[in-house]
Amino acid sequence: MQAKELVQLAEQFGSPLYVYDAAKIQSQYKRLTSAFSKVEKLRINYAMKALSNIAILQLLREMGSCIDAVSIQEVQLALHAGYSPDQIFFTPNGVSLEEIEEVSALGVQINIDNLSILEQFGTKHPNVPVCIRLNPHVMAGGNANISVGHIDSKFGISVHQLPHLVRIVENTKMNIVGIHMHTGSDILDIEVFLYAAEILFDAAKSFKNLEFLDFGSGFKVPYKKDDVETDIEELGKKLSKRFNAFCKEYGKDLTLIFEPGKFLVSEAGYFLAKVNVVKQTTSTVFAGIDSGFNHLIRPMFYGSQHHIENISNPKGKERFYSVVGYICETDTFANNRRISEINEGDILSFRNAGAYCFSMSSNYNSRYKPAEVLWLNGEGHLIRTQETFEDLLKNQIPLPVIATA
Ligand SMILES: Cc1ncc(COP(=O)(O)O)c(C=O)c1O
Repeated sequence: MQAKELVQLAEQFGSPLYVYDAAKIQSQYKRLTSAFSKVEKLRINYAMKALSNIAILQLLREMGSCIDAVSIQEVQLALHAGYSPDQIFFTPNGVSLEEIEEVSALGVQINIDNLSILEQFGTKHPNVPVCIRLNPHVMAGGNANISVGHIDSKFGISVHQLPHLVRIVENTKMNIVGIHMHTGSDILDIEVFLYAAEILFDAAKSFKNLEFLDFGSGFKVPYKKDDVETDIEELGKKLSKRFNAFCKEYGKDLTLIFEPGKFLVSEAGYFLAKVNVVKQTTSTVFAGIDSGFNHLIRPMFYGSQHHIENISNPKGKERFYSVVGYICETDTFANNRRISEINEGDILSFRNAGAYCFSMSSNYNSRYKPAEVLWLNGEGHLIRTQETFEDLLKNQIPLPVIATA
């Protein structure tokens, strides 16, 4: 999107503001499906935890996407956005048997990631088709918080426990229709995907009634100019060939599933915030914005580097700024970054603000969550209003008048 359009949206809808470019989401979806066009049956389950606004869910549904949900509330949101139960896949971690049963009763495909729940569920509901999440013990991902397939990870059933797993399946006579893995986020090297895929193919041979193999996600997207990204086209070529060969070996055309979040929505998002104050100290020039980690937590949480542009003065001389938020503790978005000269009142645009940004926002410091706008066909559509004071109070219950002693 152009800086001019973004500034206009900030003027029209106020700041801080999340803006999502529909065309970018659509082109990423097409890029992924084209890369795997040689696979007969391909299914994309959008990992809605990345960005769960129902307008975004509707946009992706129009494209043919299905959903990966991690909580019963996400399942309900997806149903509300018009997905049918068979278009939703439930991949929770560490949730109760009751929640899994409730989701399953809605007709949604469940994915179980531990032996204890698998045995309990299989004993009670042997006829319900189940997917199993395996942990392939592959160390992958951009940082420790998003590396989830390694030996110490809480996710999935260890591939080393396959014999135990198969015994449970045989004893309960449950119907395993799919196996799944997800090793982490921000994985650059396609060899990691291909290596982990071999582990899944190997495990798949232990199950006779499979309908799909789910390779999770973890594609790395570029975060700044000239940044590297997962070579989706190359991965598509290599994995499709290997997948098709495996299907022949297995004797059935299985469905290949991916569940991307970041790949589909990260680059489509812009977070716009106004500079409240420019503060010069002896060593640093701070640009203090009308937001904080309550709205965009990734830099403080993961050390993520979101590219920041001064869209009010894009051609200005570049100077060094530390961009900070208004939260009353360390709240740093960028340290000594080169940004074109900033004046109070300017609008800064944070790139890659589509995935894990609004969806991780909070009301910390009793601030309102910002509005969200979808840029579609050259127009800004408000898809969420900014919260109000009533929202802050909504679920709170004041004490009755208490007599003081
Ligand atoms: C099970 C699972 N699938 C898919 C995703 C989406 O990953 P990404 O946003 O890197 O595409 C995640 C991310 O946390 C996940 O845990």
